[in-house]
Amino acid sequence: MNWNDRYAVDEYIYGTEPNAFLAEHAHLLTGPVLSLAEGEGRNAVFLAGLGLSVHGVDSSAVGLAKAQALAAARGVNIGTEVADLAEFVPAAGRYGAVVSIFAHLPGALRARLYPLLAQSLQPGGLVLLEAYSLDQLPRNTGGPKDADMLMSLDKVRQGFPGFEPVLLRELSRDVCEGSYHTGLASVVQFIGRKTA
Ligand SMILES: C[S@@+](CC[C@H](N)C(=O)[O-])C[C@H]1O[C@@H](n2cnc3c(N)ncnc32)[C@H](O)[C@@H]1O
Repeated sequence: MNWNDRYAVDEYIYGTEPNAFLAEHAHLLTGPVLSLAEGEGRNAVFLAGLGLSVHGVDSSAVGLAKAQALAAARGVNIGTEVADLAEFVPAAGRYGAVVSIFAHLPGALRARLYPLLAQSLQPGGLVLLEAYSLDQLPRNTGGPKDADMLMSLDKVRQGFPGFEPVLLRELSRDVCEGSYHTGLASVVQFIGRKTA
């Protein structure tokens, strides 16, 4: 997937409104927030509008330029960083929350990154994640056609062992968030609190 090519259109392909799961639970988050695979900025801009300091990371410079344009249009400030999550190392102990919305990554990448995310959180900090689940594979409403990149409850439990689940579930819901997320979809949702 060449994300710069996908984002090289005027339209915000995932929309300018936040992810619904994030919007419903954002009141639980404290800053600073690290937002993974931030894309065109809809989630970072929403969180900044709530008064949270947000740092959005994505490998697409085109996506993050649109994120900064959206922030300017909404009159908020967000931090953005072009980086490949295969190499990204977040600062230890910095964040109150890590947000991961449709950040579908290969298993080997997750195995390197997720322990670093745990380290990057302050004690009691939260991870909030929504991703398409394995049951999404036969559906044509969004998400990668690669089982390794799709999530499951077990993958979440294995990825975040030092976390107390505040919420962990798999469900089908309507995801209508731009032109690539277009209807009934199988998702995993997780909010976990770092215990130590
Ligand atoms: C489905 S989009 C989701 C964007 C955003 N989270 C949202 O919900 O609107 C997936 C994003 O993951 C980013 N991405 C994929 N692989 C990445 C990697 N290895 N490092 C950084 N970003 C990556 C893409 O550039 C893209 O912006």
